[in-house]
Amino acid sequence: MSFETLLIERRDRVALVTLNRPQALNALNSTVMRELSQLLAELQADADIAAVVLTGSEKAFAAGADIKEMQSLDFVDSYIGDFIGGWDQVAGFRKPIIAAVSGFALGGGCELAMMCDFIIASKTAKFGQPEITLGIIPGMGGSQRLTRAVGKAKAMDLCLTGRMMDAAEAESAGLVARVVEPERLLDEALEAAAKIASLSLPSVMMAKEAVNRAFEQTLSEGLRFERRLFHSLFATEDQKEGMAAFVEKRKPSFKNR
Ligand code: CAA
Repeated sequence: MSFETLLIERRDRVALVTLNRPQALNALNSTVMRELSQLLAELQADADIAAVVLTGSEKAFAAGADIKEMQSLDFVDSYIGDFIGGWDQVAGFRKPIIAAVSGFALGGGCELAMMCDFIIASKTAKFGQPEITLGIIPGMGGSQRLTRAVGKAKAMDLCLTGRMMDAAEAESAGLVARVVEPERLLDEALEAAAKIASLSLPSVMMAKEAVNRAFEQTLSEGLRFERRLFHSLFATEDQKEGMAAFVEKRKPSFKNR
């Protein structure tokens, strides 16, 4: 399957998805949204894929929602048409997805990176929510996910001033999991994805679900949810295999069952 705005490459059980609108610094228009939603739905259903890396170009992961596309939008059209609502499907992707960010991750680009499970950034990465400079505010989760990631002080700073933060600041603020040299970015992300893909998929998906629940409910409800998932994993063949392999001092052979 080929796309107008995306490149897709399969590396064993990992899918490498590259945003490909270089002429617009990967600005996220409705075609990107539709194609990425469609591709992720396919990868979700594809039993041969266990993890995804989402990346952009060296200069830009994505420079935000497409300003030229939304410039003339009015309230009623955006409300009735649920403008940018399709991104919720990306946020709802159930397999692990890593954002490999180089260059600009601004506005919707920063928000898209934050929809992923974690961000690995090149030293060149720059994150920001500059919507305020356009007379709007973040609309794909920036005011919510960024605040949960970096806390109120820095989220307010970024959302109110529109300034960018570099990779070092983003890492120390907790937005980014790892920062690497630019030439290591893709290898680092693909190696992390390959490691995840080598593990038992049910446990990986439940770990993702459990961590995400921490943002949705109280601690006691979250702990209860985690315990139920934990108990349920003892029903899998992979739990027996993983523990037997440890005891027998060998590598496990997971069946994702
Ligand atoms: N939408 C549409 N086109 C964009 C774009 C965007 N978000 N960002 C960059 N482009 C286009 C530029 O218009 C330019 O195209 P032309 O050559 O046809 O003029 C091309 O990409 C290259 O961009 P620049 O010439 O501006 O490149 P630069 O290196 O001088 O600057 C930049 C880079 C600082 C990222 C600058 O492009 C910029 O500020 N972009 C906009 C960033 C922004 O405001 N993002 C938020 C968008 S709103 C949003 O995302 C809402 C939401 O939450 C859902």
